[in-house]
This record gives sequence, C-alpha cells and structure tokens, in this order.
Amino acid sequence: MSHAKPPRLFLSPPHLGGTEEKRVAEAFLSNYIAPLGPQVDAFEAAFSEYVGLPHCLALSSGTAAMHLALHCLGPGVGVGPGDVVLASTLTFIGSVSPVHFLGAEVVFVDCDRATWNMDPDLLREALMTLTAEGRRIKAVIPTDLYGQCADYQRLLDICAPFGVPILADAAEAMGARYGHGDDAVHAGAFPGLRAGIFSFNGNKIITTSGGGMLASEDAEFIARARGLSQQARMPAPHYEHTEIGYNYRLSNILAAIGLGQLDVLEARVAARRRIFRWYEQALSGLPGISFMPEAAHGKSNRWLTVIQVDARAFGAAPEAMRQALEAENIESRPVWKPMHAQPVFAGCRVFGGTVAEELFARGLCLPSGTAMTEGDVQRVARIITGLRHKGRRQGGQG
Ligand SMILES: Cc1ncc(COP(=O)(O)O)c(C=O)c1O
Repeated sequence: MSHAKPPRLFLSPPHLGGTEEKRVAEAFLSNYIAPLGPQVDAFEAAFSEYVGLPHCLALSSGTAAMHLALHCLGPGVGVGPGDVVLASTLTFIGSVSPVHFLGAEVVFVDCDRATWNMDPDLLREALMTLTAEGRRIKAVIPTDLYGQCADYQRLLDICAPFGVPILADAAEAMGARYGHGDDAVHAGAFPGLRAGIFSFNGNKIITTSGGGMLASEDAEFIARARGLSQQARMPAPHYEHTEIGYNYRLSNILAAIGLGQLDVLEARVAARRRIFRWYEQALSGLPGISFMPEAAHGKSNRWLTVIQVDARAFGAAPEAMRQALEAENIESRPVWKPMHAQPVFAGCRVFGGTVAEELFARGLCLPSGTAMTEGDVQRVARIITGLRHKGRRQGGQG
C-alpha cells in the first residue's frame, strides 16, 4: 500500500491577495511590457504613502537597491576602493555583496542577544577603532533581521559624531514598525536614516516574484539612483552617457503584482504574528526551546518564526529537527550563517561574532507562510514534540 505524501509546507511561499491577476491584466492592456509604465509609477506612489518616505525607486531586487544606495552616497562619488562599510554579520548575503561590487571593504559587526540585530556598543567600538586607524568609513548597514527593526535611534546617535550615514536593510521588514502608537514609523523610514532598502523576493512577506525598492527622504539621492538604474542615459534623443549605469528597474508587469500585494500587507503582518503565537503556544513549554525575542522599541512583522534549540535540554539538535521535518515534507532552514563565517568573506574583519555564531548553531526558521492554518502549525509542532520524546527514549536506552 502506498502512502500519499502529505502536502509540502514551504518556509515562506508567495501568498497572493486576489487582485494581482486583474492588475497584471491591466498592465498587459496598457502594453507597458517594460521596465517603466503606469503600474511602476503607481507602485512607487503607493509604497511611498504606505512607508512614509517621499522618494521611492522601484528596482529589480533588494540587492540592486543596496548597490545603488552605496553607489550614490555623497559627498562626491559613492563607496569605492579603499572605503570601509560596516554591516551586520547576521544577515543574508544580498545585504553586503554590493559593497564588494564597488570594490570596498566590508567589516562585520555582531548582533546582541536581546534583539538579534546589530549590537550598538560593538558598532561604536568598530567606528572608534577604524577611525583611529585612519580608515574612511562610508556607511553602516544594519539588517532588520527576520522582520524586526534594528534600534535606529541608538545606531544614529552612535554614528552621528563620526558623520557616517546609515542604510537600513529592511529587506525582510515590510510592515514592521519602529516605535509605538502615534510615534511609530515604518521599518527603514526613521528620520535621519539615509535610505531604506526593501525586497519583494518570492519568499518575502509581500512579493513581486523578484523586486526591490530604494526609499529616502532625499530627493536628489533618489533622482541620482533613478538615473543610474536606467543605464545613466542623459536626456538627449541619442542617449548621451557621461557615466556607467545599470539596468535595474522593476518591470511594469511585476509592479502590478506589487500593487495588489501592498493592499494585503497589513493582513499579512497580522497573519505572521498570529502564526508566531500559535507556535509559541504549541512549543514554548518544551525544555530547551526559546523564540526570537521581540524588541521593546518596535513591532516585528514576524516574517519568519525562529526558534533556538538547546540540544542538550531538548534532546535533539536543530539539524535533526530540520531533517525530521523534511522527512514529512516540511521545509525549515537554519538561521542565516553569519557572513564573517562564510568562505567568501574569509579574512574579513569582524567585531564580536560569537553571538551570531551561537544563534546560527542553535537556530531554526520554521515554516511561516501566511496561508498556513493552525492545523499546519500543529503538524509542525507535533513532529518537533515527537522528536523530543524519541530523543528521551533513545537517551534512556543508552
Ligand atoms: C536581509 C536581506 N538583505 C538583502 C536581501 C536581498 O534582496 P533581494 O533578494 O531582493 O535581492 C535579502 C533577501 O533576499 C535579505 O533577506
């Protein structure tokens, strides 16, 4: 007798709101099958209104947004050879690979245990050390990890005396807030940040399949990035070029998807937070299991529910958990491997590093897609709980 495989539970699959298809059809009808058009303009305007930053540039990815942000940092030219950029080590590579595109050096900063985001004290130490060495520090890139804002105010206070701008990597944080009540601002939009970078990759809380946004209070900064994103074409009929640009604009068709997704973002945040609570109810009583903390300074979008597993107390390691879930057709994933531990960044400097290493070694991201039901969460929780009993039985025998 063959057993049908249970349906696959993905880590964070796309979840359409229902209006996207109609909006894409409208884009087709307009015949703007191009990286410009009414849907791109409307998406930028709607995004600007939602996030609260006046100048927005829709791009083909979050990585492209970070690349252009670094490129356009003034005064004079942007980041280049000889410059240093400080960045969170606990992040995804798209946050920092653009530093390398530009030939600059990335120096990593550890996170703190309370928020899993960039440790402000270590950032201060890094700024002081590198300044004393005579290094030119061009930017700081804190990641809003798993949808939780970094402590922008503290980071800005620390950077101010050094005159170093902050580019907030809010790729995972659409819908998250910094502050509470009337004072709350959207992730990446806190006054004083040079720019916010956002991603609409297929695994994000809202998606355009692939896409990104660069947003800022600074009109000139975004205008320059806009020019560079369109091959740096000067306004002449024959396309005059005085510098090298990129082909980084978002397709009009994909912007139509983004418009539909923005409409359901608040509902998606509520759903991710609900899923987190379901997991918490199901698992928090287990010894050795804890959850990513929520910082008092804001409201996370809980993009992914992430746990820490103390293998000894729980009776199984996170990798055993991942494999047990995979055997039941459920996708989970380790916490990001810290960038300073990645072979491609061997030899790069890091301030601290052990906190991120520990979070990586003990962490597991659980399926968190917004279409999940409470029954789906219980299916995951049952497998995890079963692993504990199995571990104990084996421990008892051995
Ligand atoms: C923290 C972080 N930064 C940057 C990126 C890059 O975004 P994209 O995949 O849209 O290039 C991502 C996600 O993919 C991310 O998670």
